[in-house]
Amino acid sequence: MADENHPDKPTEFSQSRNSDPAKYLHGIGIAKMSIPDIYQDSSVLAANAIYELIDRDKLLPAEIARIDIATETGVDESKPVAAYVHGMLEQKFGKGSFKRTSGVEYKFACVSTADALESSLDWAWAGRSNGRCSIVCSTDIAKYPLNTPGESTQGAGAVALLIKENPRLLAFDNVIGTYMEDEDDFWRPLFSTTAVVHGKHSEKCYLKAMEGAVDNWAEQAISSGLVSPGPGESLIDQFGPMSFHVPYPKMAEKGFAYLLRHFWRGLSRWDEIVKKIGIEPKPAGFKKRGEFEKAESDYMRQFMETSRFQAEYNDKVAEGLIHARESGNSYSASEKSCLSMLLETKARKDADLVGKRGGSGNYGSGSKAKASSWIIQEEWKTVAKGFGHLEKLHHRRPVSLAEYEALHEGRPLPEARRFVSEPENEFVLIDVTAEGYRHYKFAD
Ligand code: CAA
Repeated sequence: MADENHPDKPTEFSQSRNSDPAKYLHGIGIAKMSIPDIYQDSSVLAANAIYELIDRDKLLPAEIARIDIATETGVDESKPVAAYVHGMLEQKFGKGSFKRTSGVEYKFACVSTADALESSLDWAWAGRSNGRCSIVCSTDIAKYPLNTPGESTQGAGAVALLIKENPRLLAFDNVIGTYMEDEDDFWRPLFSTTAVVHGKHSEKCYLKAMEGAVDNWAEQAISSGLVSPGPGESLIDQFGPMSFHVPYPKMAEKGFAYLLRHFWRGLSRWDEIVKKIGIEPKPAGFKKRGEFEKAESDYMRQFMETSRFQAEYNDKVAEGLIHARESGNSYSASEKSCLSMLLETKARKDADLVGKRGGSGNYGSGSKAKASSWIIQEEWKTVAKGFGHLEKLHHRRPVSLAEYEALHEGRPLPEARRFVSEPENEFVLIDVTAEGYRHYKFAD
């Protein structure tokens, strides 16, 4: 979509969309989007992520009590991705090897990973794990109609998380914040493969719900004594690394800025901000809603340019957004990609984070946000260094505009090719019959 080394140079994509590559890089914060090949659907992405996790951690099927899937791009209206994944894993581990492993599909736009995780944590906290672990996998393919504003935020990906007693990476706090209301900001009707979105409205819903969920987390965390900000301190000071849902990197950056404005108001550091950029605009100060929104957007931009904001953002959030900048939105998988990218980058820089509290903010259109927190464990660096984000991002192939549009629209590829890239050591979708049977295999 855009070339980081030559930000002003038009690309095949930007020219075809009559757009400016600098808008992708600086306006929304994306250089590349990921698009799946012919043989990849959300089940295949999930199975491959889970298989890699099982292999890397040398897990035995009998040790895994549940494999739950979070997705908003499932492949069937009734049969869950969890069942297809089960079948694919049994091709590798043997028929019946996962018969004592449960699985379900969770749906609530991009936030369902947080719901699936909450359920797995509740199960473990209730003492029902009996020494077994669980896996939560988020998998999605973000797709908007061609030539629409949403198109440049598309992407695809899956993340598998291992949940167990005595974790080596992060230990979750037993406090989860929620904010939910019925909103029409983004949805995908049953008859459509692409999402319908009110883009500008969805951005407001994201900010409002994220703030509401963090407020709800704070009420519970303060009343239970989990955190106690001292005089002159902000709640956000209690956190080290923070990860967010990333529909596109600029949105996560704005989400973090919105939280800082919320939690810095009334502190002496806020007086410094006001001295630099003035007081925040209020709707009552404007005759028209549009004028207020323009003033609010200008104020946000000025706040995000302050050195105070930049220091907090670079310390807590920025490194997590590298993945989305290189691959776009992966809906339910985006926050955990952000979190794992953040931890891997910090581990490679040898950051000292043991015992620090971090936070995750998930948002799903429709709409709901969840805020959770975790403590970084002793062995985090060894685990995080093994994620291999950059290797995975480099293991992709650039496609031409013609190939991209054919993949997007389900049309035959140019030159009647069967796929863009030869599968290697991964699960693939072989076919879908007229009755809807889906056949998968492992391609060696
Ligand atoms: N150079 C630098 N910046 C530029 C530029 C240029 N040449 N041209 C434009 N920009 C800037 C604009 O000033 C704007 O910045 P601000 O937001 O700070 O004002 C930014 O680029 C976006 O440009 P537009 O205002 O022209 O917006 P757009 O029409 O391209 O739409 C969008 C942007 C609404 C995000 C659209 O891509 C969209 O609808 N995306 C899908 C919905 C979405 O991701 N919503 C996020 C919240 S909902 C959610 O989180 C759930 C989910 O996963 C979908």
